[in-house]
Amino acid sequence: MPSPVTQDGRTVPSVSAATFLATVASLPVWALTVLPLSLFYQAGKVIMKPVLPKAEQPRLDTGYHVSDSDILPRRERKYDMVVLGATGFTGRLAVRHLAKTYGVNKSVKWAIAGRSEAKLDKVKRELADELDIQEVESIDTIIVDTTRTSSMPALVKQARCVATTAGPFALFGSPVVEFCAKFGTHYVDITGESDWVKAMIMKWGETAQKSGARLVTFCGHDSVPWDLSVMKLQEALQKEFKDDLTSVTFWDEAVGGAPGGTIATLFSAVDGKSVKAPHADFDPFLRLMNGEKSEYVCRSDGPTWIHKSKSPWDDTGAWFGRWTTPFIMAQVNGAVVRWSHALREQGSKSLTYTEFAVTKDFKTAFVNHVGLIIVGSMMLNPLTSGLLKKYVFPKVGEGPSMKNMEDKHYLCIFGEGIGINGNRAESIMYFDKDAGCLETSRMLVESGLCLALEEDKVPAKHGGFWPPAAGLGNVLLKRLLETGTSFEARAISEASVRHSLE
Ligand SMILES: NC(=O)c1ccc[n+]([C@@H]2O[C@H](COP(=O)([O-])OP(=O)(O)OC[C@H]3O[C@@H](n4cnc5c(N)ncnc54)[C@H](OP(=O)(O)O)[C@@H]3O)[C@@H](O)[C@H]2O)c1
Repeated sequence: MPSPVTQDGRTVPSVSAATFLATVASLPVWALTVLPLSLFYQAGKVIMKPVLPKAEQPRLDTGYHVSDSDILPRRERKYDMVVLGATGFTGRLAVRHLAKTYGVNKSVKWAIAGRSEAKLDKVKRELADELDIQEVESIDTIIVDTTRTSSMPALVKQARCVATTAGPFALFGSPVVEFCAKFGTHYVDITGESDWVKAMIMKWGETAQKSGARLVTFCGHDSVPWDLSVMKLQEALQKEFKDDLTSVTFWDEAVGGAPGGTIATLFSAVDGKSVKAPHADFDPFLRLMNGEKSEYVCRSDGPTWIHKSKSPWDDTGAWFGRWTTPFIMAQVNGAVVRWSHALREQGSKSLTYTEFAVTKDFKTAFVNHVGLIIVGSMMLNPLTSGLLKKYVFPKVGEGPSMKNMEDKHYLCIFGEGIGINGNRAESIMYFDKDAGCLETSRMLVESGLCLALEEDKVPAKHGGFWPPAAGLGNVLLKRLLETGTSFEARAISEASVRHSLE
């Protein structure tokens, strides 16, 4: 299959020899300053833990009581979708996608929600001007602060689906889940916080099953592309050869940026403020809707260091000489794939998931990986983390420029699936814009519209928590293809696999 990235005239950048040498030279300085400082600080935290006041765990239940008479049937509700977090960086992009693609209150009836009326009005004014769609100013606004329980019913009562970017989710998201589960309102988010999702499943799974609310999480960059690609690789092997996927590997080619909210989420985890995974008899991602444990397990087997690329595409033009690094979100993607695999109950009962980030050459792989280790360790003590927050990272509400997101950033994931009988399948999924912000907001909106407009067609036939592929499947993929994503998958027989290896 040809690479759409190459066809688009794009490629991952290569760092200069000077950057490589500067990174190598910074290692002794890092080893003698930042590393010991972070180690001492973290060790100190552990030693002092018994005497320090316990960090307050975010509340998972407001105790709000909902009676049946409070709940309007979903088909009678005023809005197909309400976007919460509309004043933030990604939420504003979600509003932009809705207005640009579906107009205002035409085929999709929608509203926006946030905690400041003035900020919501500003978002509407700016988008009306930018898109030259004056009706945007007339979009309904709902005032919601998730820390004020009394403001929550207004968010969920009249919505078929709430699409939320109000994060960090472990800090601000639990009441949204709770109220959607209680009011039978469908829900989509862009969290990447798997421990929090597990806590939500354990706390609100049964409530959502009873109310019929479908709560689909991880609907952004983390982890729609990988989750859907695994689903299609399994489908391709099954359709062509009646074979079942037993291992899957991804090579991710990306240029992009993170918004301030993602950095805030990382810091909330580092500072121990996020929700811990709940105690459970088994991983909540293996929990079937009947409460039993799925027999379909997926094990992540990711790299920990840089390697010369060993992908099926290595000998082809632009891939020649490439190196790989571990990918920072691979663990989350692997967990989401594991969850979908467990709920779908198809394919091999033992699946292996591996993911690499692709770089142009050795020096870029080295700089990217070592740079990540250096920055990661800098986040572990207050002195250097303060410097990063002040001078390096985007602030809350900020992110990459629209020009960079539209013209320079992209994500292309190359997948290879191997069947139990040795057959192979390949997939390529391409987002030609910034995947962490712009495309994330599109993935969120389209995921929500699957539930709001195509409830009868999605695989999530009943209430409860779902990952994107198991819950929305091909309905979501179709919507993404219609709004800008490209995807291709093909199966290759065992005979030609052997032939190509000879
Ligand atoms: N999975 C992915 O691929 C992906 C990609 C991007 C972002 N994310 C996640 O998405 C989240 C948002 O990122 P972002 O950059 O858009 O963040 P942001 O710019 O800080 O926006 C956060 C939004 O949440 C709102 N909010 C915060 N606390 C609230 C509360 N108590 N009640 C109601 N609204 C509240 C904020 O409202 P105010 O304007 O009033 O403060 C703002 O609209 C983060 O958790 C980030 O990690 C995930």
